[in-house]
Amino acid sequence: MQLPRVLAVVLLICRFFVDSRAPPKYTDEFARRKVWPLCAESSTNSTRCLGLCYNKYEFAENVVANCDLEPNGPDTCAGSTFVIIDEEAIVLSFRGSYGSHQVTEENGSLGDKVPFPGGGNVSHYFYNAFLSVWNRGMKDDFLRFKNKYPNYEVWVTGHSLGGVMADLGATHISALKFATPDKIKLLNFAGPHGGDQAWADRVPALVPWAYRVVHHWDYVPHIPDNPNWQYTHGGIEIWYNNTMALGDDYKECDAQESPDCSNSVPKKDWTWNDHGSYFEGGDSCKKWCVKTAATTPTSQ
Ligand SMILES: *[C@@H]1O[C@H](CO)[C@@H](O)[C@H](O)[C@H]1NC(C)=O
Ligand SMILES: *[C@@H]1O[C@H](CO)[C@@H](O)[C@H](O)[C@H]1NC(C)=O
Ligand SMILES: *[C@@H]1O[C@H](CO)[C@@H](O)[C@H](O)[C@H]1NC(C)=O
Ligand SMILES: *[C@@H]1O[C@H](CO)[C@@H](O)[C@H](O)[C@H]1NC(C)=O
Repeated sequence: MQLPRVLAVVLLICRFFVDSRAPPKYTDEFARRKVWPLCAESSTNSTRCLGLCYNKYEFAENVVANCDLEPNGPDTCAGSTFVIIDEEAIVLSFRGSYGSHQVTEENGSLGDKVPFPGGGNVSHYFYNAFLSVWNRGMKDDFLRFKNKYPNYEVWVTGHSLGGVMADLGATHISALKFATPDKIKLLNFAGPHGGDQAWADRVPALVPWAYRVVHHWDYVPHIPDNPNWQYTHGGIEIWYNNTMALGDDYKECDAQESPDCSNSVPKKDWTWNDHGSYFEGGDSCKKWCVKTAATTPTSQ
């Protein structure tokens, strides 16, 4: 009987291709080696990093947009759009804050919210940050790739301001049906709060695969700490209570604002020192990328 053998081979091949894309749940390996390095592509048109990590990719562009809410203000926001053929994924990667003016304006403006099309209210500053980049060219780049590769996953990521832009961007893209919820993978590293409880309650339906990674005592995921401003994180928290060295463990907290993960750290200990050292900082692509042997992706 040849059939079972053929079937086993087919299953094996299927498993291989499924494994080569995003895992069904968060893994350190996927975050550290596959997605975290892509945050380095958020502020540049250079594909050096992609070249260290992947065999085949197409890069659209890095879009830089003014995103200041003050008239003639200097703040800019940025993000890159590209496709990783190896992983069958379209990627949107958002840049963090630039300079003290931006950080001060963010910190002072977060009481100001606007309605979110998918439900709830979100930070005016952060939503405008995403929309500025999206409308400035990222949307066109994304749609071009989506038409070319309709079955690809959509990975949305960023660090710090880029993390919250990824949160609001991924939920926006789902709410407006640019991609279906099952295709979207959201990895927010160190992002501050983006929306209220009503928005956070919508996240599991809009983007079921949504994680936010928090390093140790990092201050930023607690922003804004003004309780009157009423923010709630969406997505599942992954908390590393350590230096995020290779092999370090992490805790997963599924409940919103769980007291068992980073909220267990007393406010007096929150620090900016842990903000720039996710996965130990440094040249993430050189450090963590492992190029897999070139494969021929399926076209099924
Ligand atoms: C990347 O290229 C685009 C299109 O040429 C340009 O508008 C953008 O400013 C460039 N980004 C950077 C960071 O140089
Ligand atoms: C943010 O604003 C609070 C007051 O609401 C202030 O105590 C804190 O120092 C500010 N942080 C930064 C980084 O500007
Ligand atoms: C959202 O904000 C609008 C004003 O922009 C307000 O009328 C509404 O009550 C808010 N919704 C929630 C759920 O807070
Ligand atoms: C985090 O790690 C510290 C030691 O570095 C430990 O004292 C603390 O209990 C840990 N917190 C949790 C919630 O596990």
